[in-house]
Amino acid sequence: MGGRLDGKVAVITGGASGIGEATARMFAAEGARLVIADMDESAGEALAHELGDAQFCKTDVMIEANVEAAIARATDTWGKLDCMVNNAGFVGAVGSIRETPHAHWSATLAVLLDGVFFGCKHAARAMQDSLTRGAILNTASVAGLRGGFGAHAYSTAKHAVIGLTRSVASELAPEGVRVNAVAPGAVVTPLIQNMTGMDDDTLRALAEKASPLGQAMYPKEIAGAFTYLASDDAAHVTGEVLTVDAGVMMAPEVADFHKADAAFLGPQSVLERVG
Ligand SMILES: NC(=O)c1ccc[n+]([C@@H]2O[C@H](COP(=O)([O-])OP(=O)(O)OC[C@H]3O[C@@H](n4cnc5c(N)ncnc54)[C@H](O)[C@@H]3O)[C@@H](O)[C@H]2O)c1
Repeated sequence: MGGRLDGKVAVITGGASGIGEATARMFAAEGARLVIADMDESAGEALAHELGDAQFCKTDVMIEANVEAAIARATDTWGKLDCMVNNAGFVGAVGSIRETPHAHWSATLAVLLDGVFFGCKHAARAMQDSLTRGAILNTASVAGLRGGFGAHAYSTAKHAVIGLTRSVASELAPEGVRVNAVAPGAVVTPLIQNMTGMDDDTLRALAEKASPLGQAMYPKEIAGAFTYLASDDAAHVTGEVLTVDAGVMMAPEVADFHKADAAFLGPQSVLERVG
């Protein structure tokens, strides 16, 4: 049986760890040829070697020429680009807005927002050059959908990534290029482990408690969303933000409401009218 991404060529930034690594593994298993674009040379090289039909390209997404070069690696090697996953990220500036240094703010946006802009820009050019009706996929976050799920600069960048996704989707739709984002909730990866200083078991227990589905999420759940959006199954999906958060955004307080002792909170007359 053919894979869902047979014949496709993809570049994945931040592909050496966590969500990007799981996406690289799933894309390869579904038949894609890959460039893993990451700052982490040893992990990226090892993964590319393990996957076979994959190359590593050392990339800092803050540097436009690096992102352009990673995409050129794909087009020079395989003649086209079908899918760009703009995923590289870190936590960046944390702390009170009153104390946040401008340099921390700028560096955070340089990776989380400029890096996605560079990826969208050069992927759009490559897809135009090879007349490819491709897919550009951006990693957003639930922190881009509301406040309180991330630090200020992180949350700002992820809101902007969602705006950029929708805006670029509207420009590229007439060429058949689809642009979508995935907004993960908390996923157990090195990023969140570094941020919280918690071990895997503690994080898993917390995530299970916070999720209406009672499930902690691991990178392969997000990889599944990217694989769908990269595939022809999503041929009619563009400008979309697919939230994958085990139900956290759909208001966990509703679940708590259901767990309360049975009661009717309203006028007695309403109950009487229905008998
Ligand atoms: N883990 C979560 O809970 C979570 C939730 C929502 C969104 N995200 C987003 O998912 C994406 C991946 O995060 P993850 O959790 O897999 O983290 P991770 O730390 O496991 O992986 C991030 C990868 O990005 C690479 N990277 C970092 N800065 C880079 C740069 N300037 N240029 C190139 N590569 C760079 C790292 O080397 C690493 O391989 C990020 O955009 C993050 O904001 C994560």
